[in-house]
Amino acid sequence: MFSSSHFKGGDTLLYGEDISHSFDYTLFKNITLSLSKKEKIAILGISGSGKSSLLHILSTLLKPNSGKVFIEGRDIYALKSSELLKLRRYYIGIIFQAHYLFNGFSAYENIELSQILTNSKIDENLLKLLRIEDILEKKVTELSGGQQQRVSIARVLTKNPKIIFADEPTGNLDRVTAYDVMDAIFEYIEDKSAGLFLVTHDENLAKRCDKIYRLEDEKLKAL
Ligand SMILES: Nc1ncnc2c1ncn2[C@@H]1O[C@H](COP(=O)(O)OP(=O)(O)O)[C@@H](O)[C@H]1O
Ligand SMILES: [Mg+2]
Repeated sequence: MFSSSHFKGGDTLLYGEDISHSFDYTLFKNITLSLSKKEKIAILGISGSGKSSLLHILSTLLKPNSGKVFIEGRDIYALKSSELLKLRRYYIGIIFQAHYLFNGFSAYENIELSQILTNSKIDENLLKLLRIEDILEKKVTELSGGQQQRVSIARVLTKNPKIIFADEPTGNLDRVTAYDVMDAIFEYIEDKSAGLFLVTHDENLAKRCDKIYRLEDEKLKAL
């Protein structure tokens, strides 16, 4: 059973308790897990095993059939929708493979938007790490897929989220760029004492995380 002691001492960022979910078939049952500051958790599993659904559940986007998710000690699916929105805006960063940028704007304007929304600062060092400092003036439509993905990651990190949820974030990138992007994300986690859930099918990338789970046979198995 959850007790507020999970969040005492301030090291726990997220606690998921006894989570089960089904759509047409049961995806998983009775998953319990937690994420601490500076911790990186990788989730592997074949296509259709429910990785994205689990990430959606943990990241405020999908209420599970049963079970609870606690962030900052609060049962997130018991919150008023305005509170949940606030949590999503200020506390959580979601990076998906398909990026969501505003096409009519430049790369810089896209990043600026998130800065304005959350009252944060654009970190020059982050732009360098992601190797986008020289393309900031370009329109989104003039950028390559890899550049667009890196701009969208800069936009998410600029909000200064405490928990990053990344769903195959480098799936569309070549290997070298993919590793640079992950370096930038890992460095962010360390510097800001944030936490990361990373869905990936790259086992080498998973090995750089602190914990590896595989979603299989309706369970989350620690590897
Ligand atoms: N919103 C939804 N409505 C109905 N079925 C869904 C929905 N989202 C996912 N599914 C189904 O749940 C299963 C697991 O999907 P998903 O969580 O995307 O798995 P993974 O990310 O591991 O490939 C799939 O069969 C998918 O079709
Ligand atoms: Mg998926």
